[in-house]
Amino acid sequence: MRLLIVSNRLPVALSKENGKYTMAKSAGGLVSGLSDYLNSLGNDTSEIKDYIWMGWPGTNIEKNEEEEVRRQVQQSHKASPVFLSKKLMDNVYLGFCNRTIWPLFHYFPNYARFDLEYWHDYKRMNEIFRDELLKEIQKDDIIWIHDYHLMLLPAMLREKVSNPIGFFLHIPFPSYELYRMLHKESRLQILNGLLGADLIGFHTHDYTVHFLKSVLRIVGKENHMGKISMPDHTVEVNTFPMGIDFNKFHTMDVSPHPSVKPDRGKPKIVLSVDRLDYSKGIVNRLKGFELFLEKNPEWHGKVCMHMIVVPSRTGVGSYRKIKSQLDELVGQINGNFGNMSWMPVIYQYTSLPHKELIAQYRMSHVALLTPLRDGMNLVAKEYVASLTDQKGVLIISEFAGAAKEMSESLVINPNNIDEIADAIAEALRLPMKDQVRGNRIMQKRLKRYDVTKWATDFVDMLLKNSRISRDSVSRKLLSPKIQDELFDSYQKAVSRIIIVNYDGTLVPYTRYPASAEPSGELLSLLRDLETQEKTDIVIISGRGKEELEEWFGDLPLNLTAEHGSWIREAANRVWRLLKPLSSEWKEEVVPILETYTDRLPGSYVQEREYSVAWHYHKSDIEQASQLVKEVNDHLLSITTNISAHVIHGSKVIEVSNSGINKGELAMHWLSRKQYDFILAIGAGWSDELLFQTMPEHAWPVKVGLSQTSARYVVKKQSDAIALLDRLRAGTGK
Ligand code: UDP
Ligand code: G6P
Repeated sequence: MRLLIVSNRLPVALSKENGKYTMAKSAGGLVSGLSDYLNSLGNDTSEIKDYIWMGWPGTNIEKNEEEEVRRQVQQSHKASPVFLSKKLMDNVYLGFCNRTIWPLFHYFPNYARFDLEYWHDYKRMNEIFRDELLKEIQKDDIIWIHDYHLMLLPAMLREKVSNPIGFFLHIPFPSYELYRMLHKESRLQILNGLLGADLIGFHTHDYTVHFLKSVLRIVGKENHMGKISMPDHTVEVNTFPMGIDFNKFHTMDVSPHPSVKPDRGKPKIVLSVDRLDYSKGIVNRLKGFELFLEKNPEWHGKVCMHMIVVPSRTGVGSYRKIKSQLDELVGQINGNFGNMSWMPVIYQYTSLPHKELIAQYRMSHVALLTPLRDGMNLVAKEYVASLTDQKGVLIISEFAGAAKEMSESLVINPNNIDEIADAIAEALRLPMKDQVRGNRIMQKRLKRYDVTKWATDFVDMLLKNSRISRDSVSRKLLSPKIQDELFDSYQKAVSRIIIVNYDGTLVPYTRYPASAEPSGELLSLLRDLETQEKTDIVIISGRGKEELEEWFGDLPLNLTAEHGSWIREAANRVWRLLKPLSSEWKEEVVPILETYTDRLPGSYVQEREYSVAWHYHKSDIEQASQLVKEVNDHLLSITTNISAHVIHGSKVIEVSNSGINKGELAMHWLSRKQYDFILAIGAGWSDELLFQTMPEHAWPVKVGLSQTSARYVVKKQSDAIALLDRLRAGTGK
């Protein structure tokens, strides 16, 4: 089985110098972590035997040089480049990704620019990735898409291939209030894009919860234990905190680089390592260090901050600005506190290879990491893992995903400069035995849940979910072959009946049920079917008879209203009760529903002769989803003693007479005549009883891929119409 990793960045970034391309390792945790995982492949029992990494090579490549670059990166990194023009990347990488999504998702809305051109090019870039992937994907590949540059890609791919599709977000998913600041079209399409995956992973539980809330409020989809039902698959949303290659950091021989902590008498090292990014809180960190020096003169000359800053996204203005701020602050601290023999801040603007970085980690008494927001922060984990002597103190911001797993460290709020300064003093004083105890616990955790475990857990869950999803679909899907058989049996039958549910089957579910009237096209489809000599049509619905009469009154159709309380036969077009019914129970039920209506703005009670419906499609979806369970339970508790029962439909709870259901109703129609072709199509929960009462030779078909007792399923409402259309055309095509 092959793993297809897809991310904006390839593990290698190209740049052109003196007319020649040079390759360097890409910056950032995504590349760092994934590369370590991929290097470990083959040493374990994983089903993944091979991989390929698709992404942008980091710069614009001349057309005539593309094939040579492709050959080189394929050979050196198992990478397959996706070439993108400079103009596109200016609008997408520097634009939508790093001027809109990055600041917004890291809680810097003031830095975010909302530009429609950026968004349109973002869509275009995702399409280009899709097209390149389609050339590469093989039947058994697993596709794993990474990060915020490619959030539309899962759904774009799902339309084209049936491979398992996973998505992982390496940055925070913000709270709904931040997320909703995105332009209306983009905020909806991004969520729908992600929901094309079988599995979506986040670093922390908070990000998972934020995402699910945005899906609920913007897409209107509820989740059950993190699972969301889509028309043609189930998406699972779950938390997988990314780990590191513990053994590599813990055991690497870093010689010839010095890695021993400086002797007594020499300044202790406080280490700071990040990409140059405003989200990393480097300015606050320097201010914290400055304040520490102010408050603790006894440490002057005895401590030194090593600051490694990796150049990043220099094409974005806010990044350039922060660079000059840093340069200024470092100069100020060194000028104010330093002397000929002591420089308080040693600042390197570069990216170190891991060997040198690990040496730095081991030499440092303290790692000071103060992001204002950070998806994970692998540096924190790497520092602790690297401490072979288990001596050293990690200070980590509570706003980094990593803080959730590193509670034995000093967890601080980096917005408070005093807290940073005090934490440095506390770390430098922390007794050795406490350092060792804390690091031992964290190392144990990091070793157990390392990057391989992280990736294997994700891939295993992805495979399991997509197999279940695809098996249940492929087992029941009304394939073209089965459709031919259905059509054949329709053609040969002497007497046929089509029992079809209205909402969700003949018309799509809509937010406003009153506006779901049948189109002219649908009416002519039904008319044509009904006028076929041997065919009877029955429309079953929970709607009232007045509404059905208004829509279908003129057609010679069999109709049933209020879930089967009322029926109208095509022959005489007169409405009558299916059986004697009572409406006394309404006196008890309606006041209860009215009290809930008062509590849920936008909900309303719709009273009919023999049923009552409580609609909440206009209400705040989050408030509704909490209250609905209470309403349901309340109604169930009282209806056990009266002759009524409760049905939970799509954004509606209905109460009708016991014994009135679609199963009973089906029996009524089927007992009138001997039918040798029976087609029963439905989309909702209440249609299950219809499917269950169907005789052996019938064709029960469910619309949508959720759990069903129907023998067959079609993916979407339009497939149900296409099936009826085929029966109408009678051509067999
Ligand atoms: N890193 C590196 N050389 C450096 C500084 C950092 O290789 O000089 C690596 C570091 O080992 C880590 C990654 O860059 O794996 C940074 O990941 P992190 O999650 O901390 O932050 P990100 O840059 O992804 O926001
Ligand atoms: C973070 C993001 C990655 C990104 C990295 C480096 O880790 O999550 O997707 O690759 O930063 O940023 P860059 O803009 O250089 O790709």
